[in-house]
Amino acid sequence: MTAIAIVGCGVIAPAYAQTFAELGFVDLVACADAIPERAAALAAAHDIPRATTLDDVLADPTIDCIVNLTPPLAHTAVSDAALRAGKSVFSEKPLGVDLDEGRALVALAADLGLRLGCAPDTFFGAGLQTCRAVIADGFIGEPIAANAFFLGSGPESWHPHPDIFYRRGAGPMFDMGPYYLTTLVQLLGPARAVSAAARITHAERTIGSEPRRGERIPVEVPTHVSSAIEFASGAIATVVTSFDVQASRYRNIEIYGTEATLSVPDPNYFEGPVRVRALGDTEWREIPPRPSALPARRGIGAADMLWAIGSGRAHRASGDLALHVLEMMTASFASAERGERIALTTDCMPAELIPTGLPLHTFDD
Ligand SMILES: NC(=O)c1ccc[n+]([C@@H]2O[C@H](COP(=O)([O-])OP(=O)(O)OC[C@H]3O[C@@H](n4cnc5c(N)ncnc54)[C@H](O)[C@@H]3O)[C@@H](O)[C@H]2O)c1
Repeated sequence: MTAIAIVGCGVIAPAYAQTFAELGFVDLVACADAIPERAAALAAAHDIPRATTLDDVLADPTIDCIVNLTPPLAHTAVSDAALRAGKSVFSEKPLGVDLDEGRALVALAADLGLRLGCAPDTFFGAGLQTCRAVIADGFIGEPIAANAFFLGSGPESWHPHPDIFYRRGAGPMFDMGPYYLTTLVQLLGPARAVSAAARITHAERTIGSEPRRGERIPVEVPTHVSSAIEFASGAIATVVTSFDVQASRYRNIEIYGTEATLSVPDPNYFEGPVRVRALGDTEWREIPPRPSALPARRGIGAADMLWAIGSGRAHRASGDLALHVLEMMTASFASAERGERIALTTDCMPAELIPTGLPLHTFDD
């Protein structure tokens, strides 16, 4: 069994620990956090044998892979250290916050012959896999354009510690953009250029949740980002991510084809209704979900990477994909700052579709 360790035992870590326990073929031998009590709590709740430190994990030659669930600003440093210690890495999104650091990470993994994967993995779910099959089967004709909207009023109304959402590495683009951009790459292929406008609407935000209700926090990153993305296929997507919108009827993603429109479910989730409507249709047609061989849970992208190591195939939630998404995000900010259209320098191919209906043990056959 592949021995792995979780680094970063915060809010999202239990979901990963549960996925690994359910899959059975992964041996979660340790968990580490800069705050020892958090590692101890995760270990106790999920029967993980060792609650420890990052240094201890890195020094342990029996651990093959680390799953990096630290906050975005720590991602590249932790992933870099793990790769240099000879371990494959699966990171939460984003791959990093700086394009050059992300590029160096992908190159390092390739040089060392190690795997590097990155969330999001929601495109493994029946919702987005069905959308891919709908496009591949020609249901909507040639995809020519898309709209993708994440429009909200910001997490300070409900999150107890919303500070990080307004710091570098977050904001609506870095926090939610990876779900929307990864989905667009899976559906439309790689992008070639980005033009964007962005703004910081309020220099400070007021926390509305307990225990810090009324406290004001500074805003370091754009809170409304509007990007026009040109894809290699010729398709054009409008992507808007915002923490400045009080209410909206626009949500999720639509793909406009020459023959019909595809309504894509929320890319933050694994499932959701897939609908198609052509000119002349009196209503949207719901497409039955494509059955999947895989459980739809966070962490499945990491599991796919570990399976792929065994069989030598490419893994789906790849470093190349995450780097391409990182460049779309950094290019959006650069375009907005400079008032220029930015040509992208990275590339990737959509992942292989997930086989339908196979029992798990035949997944790699
Ligand atoms: N919370 C969610 O619902 C959610 C959902 C999807 C993805 N994510 C992503 O998961 C990642 C983690 O998010 P979270 O909400 O669990 O954050 P969190 O702040 O709850 O947990 C992060 C943990 O990492 C630890 N940490 C920080 N630096 C470290 C280091 N150098 N070494 C070891 N431990 C370190 C912190 O002490 C903390 O316990 C982020 O990239 C986030 O974007 C979160």
